[in-house]
Amino acid sequence: MKKLLFCCVATTLSISIVVAQPQLTSKNIDKAIKELTLEEKAHLVVGARLQDNKEAAGEIGYTKLLVPGVAGTTYPIERLGISPVVMADGPSRIILSSRRKGEDRRYFTTNVPSGILVASSWNNEVPYKIGEILGNEAREYGIDVVLAPGVNMMRNPLCGRNYEYYSEDPLLAGRIGAAFTNGIESQNVGACVKHFAVNNQEINRLNNDARVSQRALREIYLKNFEIIVKEAQPWTIMTSYNFINGRHSSEDRGLLETILRKEWGFEGLVVSDWGGGFDAAKQIYAGNDLIEPGKYSEVRRIMSAVESGELAMADLDRCVRRVLELVVKSIRHRDYKFSNNPDLDKHAQTTREVEPEGFVLLKNEQNVLPLKSEQKVALFGTNGYNLILSNSVSLRSLNGRTVNLNEGLANAGVALHEETSNIYTKHLASEIKRLTPIWKLRRWCSYDLRPLELKDIRNHTAQAAEEADIAVITIGRNSSEAFDRHIERDFLLNMHEQAMIAAVSRDFHSRGKKVIAVLNICSPIEIASWRDKVDAILVTWLPGQEAGNSIADALLGKVSPSGHLPISFPMRYADVPSQNFPHNMVEWGAESGKNLSRAFTQKQPLYYDIPNIDYTNYEEDIYIGYRHYATRKVEVAYPFGYGLTYSQFEMGNMKVAECKDGYKVSCEVKNIGKVAAKQVVQLYSSELAPEVDRPAIELRGYKKTPLLQAGESTVVEIVIKKEDLMTYNEKANAWKLTKGDYELSLGFDSQTLPLKQKVTISKEIVRPVSTEMKPANGEVFIK
Ligand code: BGC
Repeated sequence: MKKLLFCCVATTLSISIVVAQPQLTSKNIDKAIKELTLEEKAHLVVGARLQDNKEAAGEIGYTKLLVPGVAGTTYPIERLGISPVVMADGPSRIILSSRRKGEDRRYFTTNVPSGILVASSWNNEVPYKIGEILGNEAREYGIDVVLAPGVNMMRNPLCGRNYEYYSEDPLLAGRIGAAFTNGIESQNVGACVKHFAVNNQEINRLNNDARVSQRALREIYLKNFEIIVKEAQPWTIMTSYNFINGRHSSEDRGLLETILRKEWGFEGLVVSDWGGGFDAAKQIYAGNDLIEPGKYSEVRRIMSAVESGELAMADLDRCVRRVLELVVKSIRHRDYKFSNNPDLDKHAQTTREVEPEGFVLLKNEQNVLPLKSEQKVALFGTNGYNLILSNSVSLRSLNGRTVNLNEGLANAGVALHEETSNIYTKHLASEIKRLTPIWKLRRWCSYDLRPLELKDIRNHTAQAAEEADIAVITIGRNSSEAFDRHIERDFLLNMHEQAMIAAVSRDFHSRGKKVIAVLNICSPIEIASWRDKVDAILVTWLPGQEAGNSIADALLGKVSPSGHLPISFPMRYADVPSQNFPHNMVEWGAESGKNLSRAFTQKQPLYYDIPNIDYTNYEEDIYIGYRHYATRKVEVAYPFGYGLTYSQFEMGNMKVAECKDGYKVSCEVKNIGKVAAKQVVQLYSSELAPEVDRPAIELRGYKKTPLLQAGESTVVEIVIKKEDLMTYNEKANAWKLTKGDYELSLGFDSQTLPLKQKVTISKEIVRPVSTEMKPANGEVFIK
């Protein structure tokens, strides 16, 4: 801990003036605030934008680029010992420049599995371990805050950021997010839970107004954040780009001060998304403590608002205090001597070990998987030779290590059908040659610039089927922030992919040989129309840098995949409840003759004219994902929570015991198959005669078993509170648990719930909450 220092300033005339300058410590924050000028305060709540940006040239000076290539820093004030806080992006890896001027060495970071894979593990140890890796690499590179986890709800399978989010269910997203946060913060650096809140579409992301009922906010879109705040108390939270019910999330004091802090007890700092929000003074008033990456115009706006009395000094001081509270926790303030050398080999190993926990085996007819190591594999699909590791930033390796599936299989000693590999390797080389100049022009968010699928593989499949023992087909789908996905290009298979599956399936099956599909995808795709053509389907999501090795581990049965879906796979896009998701924006713009280019990048004042672009009514209300499919009995291709292993399990002996304020629910799980595997027990609840409309089932808890050997069994216990069964009652403005019968059910997925028990609530519980976040004119957005 630093002490009060006195520094001497000597002039050239040798007149000594001794000025006492308190140096910031956790104990003297009040004193430091008193010492600060208005200008310094305004600077502290506005990020110190990159040094080369002229707009950032405040009179007090620039922040030095402390860690090149990171997202942002806070403003340092040397005279008071206020060091800068450095913030870098996650969650797929720590993003910084791998090259530094005048240095030969590279600064690499581990490309960890994407959020959707982490959540598919349904095992809180996985997000914790991945969080630990990010936290450790951040710390060892001198970074104080990791801008992760991203926990927004997957409202629609076409959202461009689903890959980094967790689920269509708020409990799963909240618990996984809390464990991820705890993992990061175990390394003494901060997490930043983003994007608070209702950030569910990328189209017009800076301006879109998400219009949501109070109930859907409380039960779905805020619930995930509430769980994380209560379970992990993160150092920081990032507000979102969008508006919610007419107010920008970073300018809504009700959301930030009342709901987040007063109701949930959040104690950390709130930071804006980069460039998010419109009026810096309103953001500070609202309790958005830090505006990133920071512009001098924002500093000026805050100063003039205070000078004119529009913004109270007390409101500014409150945000300054939270910035200083973050500063004193930071590694720079604590003089941590970071090594610039995290243990990347160890992290690669951990990444490889955890990845199969999030691989979801959707189909495995006649136990075609695991592969036998002596089988010769024909590997089809350009993607298998150029896996998507995380999002568009990682189109090419930025981490120094990428293992493609052909390499992973070869590393595992599998013989690949040479002719097939040669065809794809040659095709990929020419695609990379074609794309390289384009990549150079557009490095960021270029998810659509992927090597194309080979057009004429059909001429080759018969020969491959003669010479190889089994076919593995890979399909890849990437996406990125700032764009949403398209039905035709992204959700559906294109004609070359369909032709490949048809030809491989025909030629291998006619020779009695099997076909396996590996889906290296960022979010669900259409699967129902072609799944019968293959014998096994393994969803690997975007697995991180060890992808090839870990997929090979899973395909060969070195470890059984044990992931379960955190989002439903619909039969067809038309079944998705949020039909007003703007997937048809481009066509709509063309038909209407409107120029929609602003919808991607430009910040605009709030418009109200174009539905689903300027504003989006959350018409499906609380019925997102399985809440819709299960309640309205809409058939899905694969339900929420679904996933197979290489073994079989049975569950029995369900017990429900009342315990303090809740229930202890347990059951026995037995591995009745032939190999070791892990299984996930999921607990759902239903109110049997609800007074308000309620989903047929809602996830209340989950637990993954330890690795169970063949024949081994274990008892799984899940504890829930009675309050977990509450619903939000709009009329009463309160969470309410009504008296009556509820059913608790257990299963391995949301559609197959073999164990059920009734519990009776005999005492009503009502928990009133604030009326904040209501639409100004009392509109109803539900269809
Ligand atoms: C993203 C955030 C990210 C920030 C800083 C924004 O465009 O929405 O998720 O943390 O940039 O890079």
